[in-house]
Amino acid sequence: MSEKPMAVATVLDEQDEANPYLLGVYAPVHEQITAENLKVIGEIPRDLNGVYLRNGPNARHPVRGRYHWFDGDGMVHAMHFENGRARYRNRYVRTRAFEAESSAGESLWTGVMENPKGNPPGTARGLRLKDSANTDVIFHQGRVLATWYLCGSPYSLDPLSLETLGAETFLDTLTGDFMAHPKVDERTGELFWFDYGPRAPYLRYGVVGAGGTVEHCVELELPGARLPHDMAITDEHAVLMDLPLYQDLDAARQGRYKLTFDRGLPARFGVIPRRGQAHQIRWFEAKPCYIYHVVNAWESGDEITMDVCRVGRPAPAGDGGPLARMLSYLRLDARMYRYRFDLRTGRTSEGFVDEDHNTEFPSIDARRTGRATRYSYNVSVKDAETNLFDGLVRYDNVTGAKQEHRFGEHRYGSEAPFAPRDGSAGEDDGYLVTFVTDEREGTSEVQILSASDLAAGPVARVLIPQRVPLGFHATWVRSDQLR
Ligand SMILES: [Fe+2]
Repeated sequence: MSEKPMAVATVLDEQDEANPYLLGVYAPVHEQITAENLKVIGEIPRDLNGVYLRNGPNARHPVRGRYHWFDGDGMVHAMHFENGRARYRNRYVRTRAFEAESSAGESLWTGVMENPKGNPPGTARGLRLKDSANTDVIFHQGRVLATWYLCGSPYSLDPLSLETLGAETFLDTLTGDFMAHPKVDERTGELFWFDYGPRAPYLRYGVVGAGGTVEHCVELELPGARLPHDMAITDEHAVLMDLPLYQDLDAARQGRYKLTFDRGLPARFGVIPRRGQAHQIRWFEAKPCYIYHVVNAWESGDEITMDVCRVGRPAPAGDGGPLARMLSYLRLDARMYRYRFDLRTGRTSEGFVDEDHNTEFPSIDARRTGRATRYSYNVSVKDAETNLFDGLVRYDNVTGAKQEHRFGEHRYGSEAPFAPRDGSAGEDDGYLVTFVTDEREGTSEVQILSASDLAAGPVARVLIPQRVPLGFHATWVRSDQLR
């Protein structure tokens, strides 16, 4: 049963190149549906109650200029589980830009690979970029927030209907923009975020309090514009990043988008008290790298431990044209890695947790964000031209053991958040939930796995009457949070 059917448009890159991120498992879908009474293989556990939500790019109109995977309009796909039953729904995130393009009936913005000069302003900082809210979905204080990696407005969604409720301003206390991966501390009700951009102030750090307003916001000094993607919190601190990957400013002045990785600069991690002032930040230096995603961080005594998926060589292989460079930069090549920051000496120690396996999009038991975690649940990245997640990996920090589940030939998954079962007592007492799309069949399903036994394979597969394009980040909202 389909609601609000939309015209099916052919979405092509204007360069007429076969851009793989517009084809096959990445091709956008144009129907927004709600589907119940779905076919289940196995049995949906009755103690799995809540919603799995996943965001991702879904170009709605024919693309202007070159297409980058990160350009598509935000679309959230959700599977709601209740007493052994499941309901699927997908909806666009109706941002201001989405509404403007809906009225115009066409794309008004080019993507990040084009000169933005002729575009309308699109962010609080006045950047001429389309804020698509296509990157992550965060749950905070009863609302789902759809967020964007280049910093835009967090868009509030109803977690069940997926209706866009509007740009979240935290009762008009949010000035500026908001990055993709804020951190929520469930115990205090606080939400920690940053805002970055190509012009000073290059980095702002803030806290939304339990009362739902921005209670703290400071400008932090960086040597120049950076592209920070994620952050961490501990009981007492936040950890921010200054990594030596940035946009080439000479190229930007000529209207070209080019990234530079400067091996001559260290990676720097800024440790600041949760409500600290700018002068209280302490920078810890480490070997140059890029980091998309933090697993988790915590402190014990005078030491902060932070686990991440670390990219050692964040630069394109070879020259090639813009499409080849985009594909090369987008290729995730990360390893599980641990930092330790000694708050007494200011020294950093660092090393691989797993030097061999390319894994990314980590998730943990969200109830333990900022506190020591034993398990990390990552996706396994296939060695391919584009980003394809061919399996799930569970890391055990205590024993060093690794469990794996492979989706099978030509089948690719999504970020798989930990979904605690009702009454869950531990950080593997529950399930992992992920969409899986079959490249050859053009079909999708949700797989439910036991978080304590990934190798056993899915306990249930729920078939979806529409393909779910591969996308970005996901979250799990427990049924007790929905009430
Ligand atoms: Fe991300």
